[in-house]
Amino acid sequence: MQLRFYGGGVSSFEAVFGNSPEVVARAPGRVNLLGEHTDYNEGYVLPIAIEQQTSVSVSVSHSNSEQYALYSETLDDIVYFTLGKSPTEHFATYVYGCLMEARAVGVKVPVLDIYIQSDVPMGAGLSSSAALEVATLRVLRVLTGFPLDDVQIAQLAQRAEIQYAGVRCGIMDQMAASLAGTREALLLDTLTLERRLVPLPPASAVLVLDSGVARTLAGSGYNQRRAECEEAARQLGVSTLRDLQDVSLADALPEPLSRRVRHIVSENARVLRAAECNNAEEFGMLMNASHASLRDDYEVSVSQLDQLVTLLQAHPDVYGARLTGAGFGGACVALCKPGSLQQISEAVLQDYSNVGLKGGVLVPPHW
Ligand code: GLA
Repeated sequence: MQLRFYGGGVSSFEAVFGNSPEVVARAPGRVNLLGEHTDYNEGYVLPIAIEQQTSVSVSVSHSNSEQYALYSETLDDIVYFTLGKSPTEHFATYVYGCLMEARAVGVKVPVLDIYIQSDVPMGAGLSSSAALEVATLRVLRVLTGFPLDDVQIAQLAQRAEIQYAGVRCGIMDQMAASLAGTREALLLDTLTLERRLVPLPPASAVLVLDSGVARTLAGSGYNQRRAECEEAARQLGVSTLRDLQDVSLADALPEPLSRRVRHIVSENARVLRAAECNNAEEFGMLMNASHASLRDDYEVSVSQLDQLVTLLQAHPDVYGARLTGAGFGGACVALCKPGSLQQISEAVLQDYSNVGLKGGVLVPPHW
């Protein structure tokens, strides 16, 4: 093992591994504008990539062992593992899962030294895990020349997260990290994977504020919500909730299943409407309605997110705001007048701190 030095804020592949990386690949985080918890119900989503990215640098290991070395600059932690025995460190399971999934489809994965660098906020609902997975698979694609297209990369990344990181996620985050850009949103049908780019409404820009309440997906009620949706679909005799258009059918179900269904059906309709409307006011109202639905029907909000969303919605230069990502903490997204982002965040975060809470700006990453 060539390990020379790490720790103490040293931050380069060379400093850790003693040689230069052979391949570097990147992938962005994402913020979801509309379509929350719809992806694992085969519905519609509307994410957009953010500027923050994760980069994965690798070189083929020169040692004769079968041991992979994986260093995270953010965590200042190095993990060793061999394929076939999953590491226990959570961040490493995403990379390990991608290597295993790639191998399962025939990629000849050499033993690697791997270095991760990222400015995608972690635990905020901006898909730092999907960025890591997609960057890892991109690095393997370049290193080995194995033909994987961007959709296959997203699919392998999703499988890695489900199989190895323990979250039964949908495919939105991995598709966004693999296919979305920062200028237009990605309207995605998660059943057919049909997609098209949708420009933001005229005179609008995206602001993302952190509630300061961390969440971990696996520890949250995420898998429970997914199970509730599957149970509701079973009771309604459809294969997934995507197949329902008439929300009144949900009334026959016991609580909380009927409310879960109401959220999914109404959220799918909001995504499709927003993708067509080309109007910031209407788009904003759809975001507000989405938050109410996530709070009351889907029950994935927390009081701090509700406070932050209420403050954002009350600002005159905000068209609409909602929690974004899985919920249970994390961030809020707002559609705003483009010239006012800094002023809005300062005013809203000041009011948020007046009630004893500490938030922050996540997007844009700088003014
Ligand atoms: C997480 C999952 C996604 C999606 C969202 C909620 O980000 O990874 O697949 O389900 O939650 O919309």
